[in-house]
Amino acid sequence: MSSRHGVFITGTDTEVGKTHYSCRLLRTLNKQGKSTAAMKPVASGAEYVDARLRNDDALQLLGAANTTTDYATCNPYCFEPAIAPHLAARQAGQCIELDVIAEHFLQLEQQADITIVEGVGGWQVPLNESDCVADLALRLRLPVILVVGLRLGCINHSLLSAQAIIDSGLELLGWVANGIEKDFPMLEENIAAIEQRLPVPCLDILPWQQNRKNNHDEPSVNISWL
Ligand SMILES: Nc1ncnc2c1ncn2[C@@H]1O[C@H](COP(=O)(O)OP(=O)(O)O)[C@@H](O)[C@H]1O
Ligand SMILES: [Mg+2]
Repeated sequence: MSSRHGVFITGTDTEVGKTHYSCRLLRTLNKQGKSTAAMKPVASGAEYVDARLRNDDALQLLGAANTTTDYATCNPYCFEPAIAPHLAARQAGQCIELDVIAEHFLQLEQQADITIVEGVGGWQVPLNESDCVADLALRLRLPVILVVGLRLGCINHSLLSAQAIIDSGLELLGWVANGIEKDFPMLEENIAAIEQRLPVPCLDILPWQQNRKNNHDEPSVNISWL
């Protein structure tokens, strides 16, 4: 295996399956005997638990990784309203700083064989006045996997996102077709249309899964890119 020690998970949009895929990837890596850590650097949409703001993605990632991380190291920027992160930060009187995220990432990178970093929304979501998710991935110098939520519009969104990732100069390892709709019409044809047009491989096709709580016998995801 090569020396990849982290990967950045982005998606065609919000609610496309980034967290779902990231957790499955963590569980696959755990089964392979790797030590894993996870980060959700920026989250908007959180609830108070014991007087502290907690985001569900970060909690799911922390639950799937097999090394122990403090909540704040995993998720340094956590905002209560589910609104655009730079607006949520502004409303909270904060500024999202890539340097702070990079410091936290360094800590995780030292504690685990591989660290999975989940982005927020899609590739060009603003984080502050000058940086967006793409700048964060660049700052962490991580290869990228694009999760495509299979729904109407996904062909356009995946082609635009993949082009932007490639243009950023980062390595796009591949894309994941995720079945977020139970009966998406022409699913295979949509996957084929994306496959024909993207220069990177489809790493996994994850079908719509009714019961996502039971992950005992879920199939492993593809980690051949590692
Ligand atoms: N393959 C799937 N089958 C069924 N439901 C899914 C699947 N992938 C994601 N979901 C559901 O869709 C919603 C969005 O997924 P999530 O992973 O949270 O997306 P993102 O992290 O991109 O916002 C969640 O409720 C999740 O449980
Ligand atoms: Mg998520």
